[in-house]
Amino acid sequence: MDLKKKAAVLVTGATGQSGAMVIRELILQQVPVRALVRDREKARIWDGIPEVEIITGNMLQPDSLQPTLAGIERALLISSANDRMVDTQCSFIDACKAAGVPHVIKFSGEESQIGYNPQHFRFTREHNEIEGYLERSGLQWTHLRPSQFMQVYLREAAAIRTTGELRLPLEDIRMSPVDVRDIAKIAAALLAGGGYQSQRLRITGPEALSLAEIAAIIARIANYPVRYAAISIEERSQALLAAGLPPFFVEAVAAQTAERCKHPQARIDLNTHRLFNVTPTTFEQFVLHHAMDFGAPGDHYSNIK
Ligand SMILES: NC(=O)c1ccc[n+]([C@@H]2O[C@H](COP(=O)([O-])OP(=O)(O)OC[C@H]3O[C@@H](n4cnc5c(N)ncnc54)[C@H](OP(=O)(O)O)[C@@H]3O)[C@@H](O)[C@H]2O)c1
Repeated sequence: MDLKKKAAVLVTGATGQSGAMVIRELILQQVPVRALVRDREKARIWDGIPEVEIITGNMLQPDSLQPTLAGIERALLISSANDRMVDTQCSFIDACKAAGVPHVIKFSGEESQIGYNPQHFRFTREHNEIEGYLERSGLQWTHLRPSQFMQVYLREAAAIRTTGELRLPLEDIRMSPVDVRDIAKIAAALLAGGGYQSQRLRITGPEALSLAEIAAIIARIANYPVRYAAISIEERSQALLAAGLPPFFVEAVAAQTAERCKHPQARIDLNTHRLFNVTPTTFEQFVLHHAMDFGAPGDHYSNIK
């Protein structure tokens, strides 16, 4: 059987963090998938995997997407949080409409802070704008709205290993981060099975954790002292700029952080995990999975009580 001819689902943003994990889940379930990539070289990991059909294209050039969209029943819309996210995703929605793709699943986002105003963070504001555009398009739609990814803490791992500190400007607030692998399992099930039209599916992790608790979990698994050091938003912004992040992004993150700090309590919403029979990953399980990144010595399983 030639699986490549049967792909009825498309994953965009396939070379990114979330899209690649969705592709992985679909491969594990032997669901044929078409992967849209801008750079063919980044997709070499799937060469020879029969479930994956790789197509190159750019969502900002909708006319070039018609071969990509032919025969597709459900498309997962993911792109980078960059300064062209709205143009990129709205242009893709236009292309889906022109090609007659029935159902678009929008990979969106929603903060877990109770009372958080999405208008105060550029990317939640823009996700909401794109969601509205998709809803008005006449296509069937479903929005996946994950909270903060647990994987953002992997970016802090090198500094934690060096200093023994988790340095973030988040005061004493709690958040409910979710493992991208959980989101990917949900997205893959939705792509494979369909349904859930006109639904906004919120996804958080299973615990509302303070940063001190997050540091303590990392310390326990990695087996060395780690403490949370609350820094100022300004200090964080300077560090991100020094690391080479673009000013528009640093500014957006500063606004997001200020709004988060106004709303110190976080909700836990596991309804979507339940709908798709996905077991929520705890933060401890996440750190255990990435124990070597966080600097755990050899046999890290012995650190789990
Ligand atoms: N970080 C969080 O905590 C969090 C929480 C909730 C929601 N979100 C949202 O989750 C989404 C996905 O995040 P992620 O970390 O998986 O993103 P990512 O790693 O930056 O990946 C983005 C993907 O989009 C592709 N892309 C960008 N522009 C494109 C275009 N014009 N045409 C085709 N492909 C294009 C990129 O391709 P290249 O590889 O070629 O660049 C890449 O494959 C974002 O929209 C973000 O706002 C993030």
